[in-house]
Amino acid sequence: MANEKKLIVGNWKMNLDMHEASLYLHQLSKLVKVHRDVEVVLAPSMFTLQSLSLQVNLRQFKLAAQNFYWRDHGSYTGEVSAAQLRGIVQFALVGHSERRHIFNENDKDIRNKVAAAVRSHIRPILCIGETAWERSSGETHYVLHDQLIGGLSNITSDELEQVIIAYEPVWAIGAGQMALPGDVVEAVKAIRRQIEHLYGKAASESIQILYGGSVTADSAAEYLNLPGVNGLLMGGASLNAHEFSDIIKKAHNSLTAAKKG
Ligand code: 13P
Repeated sequence: MANEKKLIVGNWKMNLDMHEASLYLHQLSKLVKVHRDVEVVLAPSMFTLQSLSLQVNLRQFKLAAQNFYWRDHGSYTGEVSAAQLRGIVQFALVGHSERRHIFNENDKDIRNKVAAAVRSHIRPILCIGETAWERSSGETHYVLHDQLIGGLSNITSDELEQVIIAYEPVWAIGAGQMALPGDVVEAVKAIRRQIEHLYGKAASESIQILYGGSVTADSAAEYLNLPGVNGLLMGGASLNAHEFSDIIKKAHNSLTAAKKG
């Protein structure tokens, strides 16, 4: 696969207050070495972002927003736009299953958000994945197809270079229930086939695809070594600085081993 970098993303969800977040970042920065082949991204809750952006060493970690509104400015009480986040974050999650299912985000919201992030020079991490019911009905590949088309329909080939895809089966998130490696490989292949169909072969080979869903320090290496998987998106495991730094080390080791072997 053309991409030889691993991307490790920690989604803190609605956890850690200002003090805890700052302490965590301090602790993590002592544990993690900068590896040129591993990019580490932290997605804290919105209200800690600004202070963490002043504390973070961008050579070591990048920041991501967990959410934002797709319009740039205006009368949208309680919302924060990608345009306002420009310069504070380098990445943003879009279409996370918790946004889709708890906050009823639909394809239109999601495609507008992907486009808004790109417009503000923030790399969107478009999250897609099937529910348990869709999986048991054999619909996984249709769901991935629809969510990809839904999320990317405002995006040109040039803009696609900014986009990252995260495959997160909804039933595996926060459940301690791990997706079978073979199923992840098949899903990632289906995503690349769809990207090839929409944007051509070169794009399908270079787009970064992450896996997420109950990844721990014990299972990380197995997912990182799967063909076509360029990194991981983690919730629970990213909240423990020791476990998260261990996973970052494993990402580096997986690349070093691949180069030697
Ligand atoms: P867990 O790693 O806690 O399953 O969460 C995954 C996730 O939703 C990351 O965005």
